[in-house]
Amino acid sequence: MKKHFVNLPVLETKNLILRPVQAEDYKAVFEFASDPDVAKYTSWDVHKTIEDSKVLVRFITKRYAGNKPSNWAVILKSSNQLIGTCGFVSAFAANKRGEIAFAIRKEHWRKGYMTEAVNKSIEFGFNELKLNRIEAVCDAENEASSRLLEKCGMKFEGILRQYVFIRGQFRDMKSYAILAGEYFNG
Ligand SMILES: CC(C)(COP(=O)(O)OP(=O)(O)OC[C@H]1O[C@@H](n2cnc3c(N)ncnc32)[C@H](O)[C@@H]1OP(=O)(O)O)[C@@H](O)C(=O)NCCC(=O)NCCS
Repeated sequence: MKKHFVNLPVLETKNLILRPVQAEDYKAVFEFASDPDVAKYTSWDVHKTIEDSKVLVRFITKRYAGNKPSNWAVILKSSNQLIGTCGFVSAFAANKRGEIAFAIRKEHWRKGYMTEAVNKSIEFGFNELKLNRIEAVCDAENEASSRLLEKCGMKFEGILRQYVFIRGQFRDMKSYAILAGEYFNG
């Protein structure tokens, strides 16, 4: 991954701008990350204080600085508001494989926004990062996430049994992926 994350570009979709997260974004991050419905199936715990969001924002910006994969801020063009995050959370140059993750404010669920953001992330992954495989995992009960990934062309590959230990429980995760050959050749 040359300098892709240290110079993470600004991308645009019909309704959204994807831009690097900035230090002052912590308040907008807190607005969605403190919602228990948003955090129900995420790998991170619901944010209880604004400090939790400051820590997350610092974590993300540090990762950019180290050229490590990290999310874009998802900005709604019509309001110029940060409504979520989406993008690569890991990438392995040797295997040309990357993983995406995403979350969006509840008031904006089901408007097609994350479909736009995930499709743009996949386009970036294949065209710019030159990945061969883009994957995502989601909680086996996270229907919204499963359907979103399928809508974006990812194939269900199976259940990763008791794959993560979150909030005191082992959870089964669904594995999804799209390959470069499928993306470019259909
Ligand atoms: C999962 C999530 C990102 C979806 O974002 P979104 O912007 O609402 O998704 P979209 O509007 O683009 O929907 C895409 C498809 O996903 C499915 N979907 C989205 N929300 C759904 C819901 N609540 N119930 C069932 N299906 C849903 C639908 O098939 C939808 O397509 P359709 O509207 O044409 O039927 C959002 O619900 C969210 O932030 N959830 C909390 C965080 C989270 O769970 N992140 C994933 C961790 S792996």
